[in-house]
Amino acid sequence: MDINEIINQMTIKEKAALCIGASAWCTASVRRLGIPQMVMADGPHGVRRAENIDEVHNIYSLRKSLPSTCFPTASAVACTWDIQLLTEMGEAIGKECIVQGVDILLGPGNNMKRTPLCGRNFEYFSEDPYLSGDLAAAFINGVQSKGVGAALKHFIANNQEYKRYTTSAEIDERTLREIYLTAFERAIKKSKPWAIMCSYNKLNGIYCSENHELLTEILREEWGFDGFIISDWGAVHDRTESLKAGVDLEMPGPQKKSFKNLIKAINNGELTEKALNDAVKCILKAVFKSKEEKKSVEDIDINSHHELARKIASESMVLLKNNENILPMTKPKSIAIIGKAAKTPHIQGGGSSEVNPSNLDIPYEEIVKLAEGAKIFYEEGYTMKEEINPVMIDKAVSIAKDAEIALVFLALPSHKEFESYDREDIKLTKHQIQLIKSVALAQPKTVVILNTGSPVSMKEWIDDVQGVLYSWLMGQGGGKAVADILFGKINPSGRLAETFPIKLSDSPAYINYPGENNKVIYGEGIFMGYRYYDKKEMEVQFPFGYGLSYTTFKYSNLKVSSDEFKDVDGLTITLDVKNTGKMAGKDIIQLYISDKEARLARPIKELKGFKKVDLKPGETKTISFKLEERDFAYYHPKYKRWITEDGEFEIMIGKSSRDISLIKKVRLISTTQLPCTLDYNSTVREWLEDKKGKEIIESLSKEIMNRKDFMRLSSDSNVDIWKAAQDTQLIFLLKQISWALPLVPDIIMSRLLSKVHGERK
Ligand code: BGC
Repeated sequence: MDINEIINQMTIKEKAALCIGASAWCTASVRRLGIPQMVMADGPHGVRRAENIDEVHNIYSLRKSLPSTCFPTASAVACTWDIQLLTEMGEAIGKECIVQGVDILLGPGNNMKRTPLCGRNFEYFSEDPYLSGDLAAAFINGVQSKGVGAALKHFIANNQEYKRYTTSAEIDERTLREIYLTAFERAIKKSKPWAIMCSYNKLNGIYCSENHELLTEILREEWGFDGFIISDWGAVHDRTESLKAGVDLEMPGPQKKSFKNLIKAINNGELTEKALNDAVKCILKAVFKSKEEKKSVEDIDINSHHELARKIASESMVLLKNNENILPMTKPKSIAIIGKAAKTPHIQGGGSSEVNPSNLDIPYEEIVKLAEGAKIFYEEGYTMKEEINPVMIDKAVSIAKDAEIALVFLALPSHKEFESYDREDIKLTKHQIQLIKSVALAQPKTVVILNTGSPVSMKEWIDDVQGVLYSWLMGQGGGKAVADILFGKINPSGRLAETFPIKLSDSPAYINYPGENNKVIYGEGIFMGYRYYDKKEMEVQFPFGYGLSYTTFKYSNLKVSSDEFKDVDGLTITLDVKNTGKMAGKDIIQLYISDKEARLARPIKELKGFKKVDLKPGETKTISFKLEERDFAYYHPKYKRWITEDGEFEIMIGKSSRDISLIKKVRLISTTQLPCTLDYNSTVREWLEDKKGKEIIESLSKEIMNRKDFMRLSSDSNVDIWKAAQDTQLIFLLKQISWALPLVPDIIMSRLLSKVHGERK
């Protein structure tokens, strides 16, 4: 297919039309040139293929999407930390796309969880860019292995729904690079998504859809992204500006105003035909790629996808509390099942990601199947109202008393987990809290199963109950997964991909959320998620990486390939993991690094590796990690690049970010060559931080100290003037001690500068 030749034959109008959707879900076709339409559908945890792809209105209330497998949402699947599983999920969704005639899946979402209030957090993976980037890549690789494109979204900083269409995320360069961009960069480099969807919001005052630096300089030129850039639905304000910035395809369509805008810009020279051709080329590449690479799938085994949804759900769930091994349940004779969510589980959140499930497991029914004749009582327990309803509570208490164990299933009111607006708090309803407390008072053996997509605060009730299982928004197979875990058919292995704070006001963005005057300042900087709680030495409800198991694991024998290594050589780390308990199970080994000597502030620790292992009782496996130069680097805004520095690092192996079992110290030798930025106004500290500058200052210091005048006139020779004056400009210091200098300060300064710059060449 010669795309250039096709473009040569296209009229300007055809080109402009191709750069704007033809409907809510399709691109324009050009029959005379054999250009077919390209069909898009939302995801990311299932295919939401509209029944009528030619519709022009994309409304969330659209319930008429074709049935497809509803997997657990991203916040759940992230807790599997399982690259293989995410790839399998992507493959299954890719196949369903093929059967439903979908060319591009609009997902996954890869925004960082800056605040637990973000209404769309259930659609996002993590607060950590490393984990998020790798999981997104795994998912994309799965989808794209079927010849279906994935559109990684929302680029970038769509970290809240409040004023998402207009607000400006004000993020300093280092934070943007290390946290928000890194998540996308990792995913893009590891999976080459066919498309990137730019977000609605502004970044530092410029709409992401018009942000040339973001879309062209960073994404395309620096990272080498060669797919097409698509706008979020309605994110384009000025079609010409957006095209110039890098948005190839505006969605949805049709948009008469945008079309006219493009034609006018071409006619008056504001937009070059080359720029239009470039956008057309990016779109056409995807259009034809999807026709050429799409695998042929006649039909799919929908049952096997349902099984996969169950498996993913079971590995997503996180056992948070299990006092006195209340779980797994051991043949109870009677069980009180309380809570509406046991019969109507929340399998997904609301908004554009909502799919029409092909099947549905109900927790209550699955428990009954495994209960081996135990007597089952059921009470609805709550409505979606805030106010306490004593009658419902009394009924729940009465069945809890009569049973051996009480299982309380809770979901938030649906409007609290919905795209386009944020939550107001992270609490369960007043009634739900009272329900837990009352049931737990009547029945000491109470386990709470939380069926929500984001953290809820637990401090008001967690001490009252013996067990807590986080089942997340569990997808269509979650009902069976819950039952399997409760009865020990499956050993829980999920680990939190985000910190659960004790209370909302503890969370990193609390003071700087939701922003004012259409700006939200990312004041916490790089200290987001566990990076924040660690730095502030704060207690949390449950830390990042945390999760219990029915068995125990022991880590030992931590080895590194070298105690001292050059950054470019990287470092290999190995350790042994043993299942020391009585049940087979999976564990997630987390590797963090801690930079002990950096010039700029760095997090106490950062995740740089993770592995999941499956171990039988008594079994040991050796696992290894390979760290690369970038894993040790940080972004230095002064040099506008990633740098490493000589110094000590700790390699930490943990069961969570707060449970580090093994530590090894290593020394990194940096090969980073930095340009010298010292000038007339640089401080003593800046001179000392520069390798060459330090040598120069040290020799100057010797020279001055040796001068008799200096010794004679200096009142206290023990004072280290260089240290005392480290935040003073060097020239200022030289002027202060000019009486001890062989030449006037300005001449010395110019000689020092030529030496420090000159010798670098
Ligand atoms: C959402 C996107 C979604 C698109 C199409 C937008 O409102 O932000 O994530 O893909 O709608 O439904």
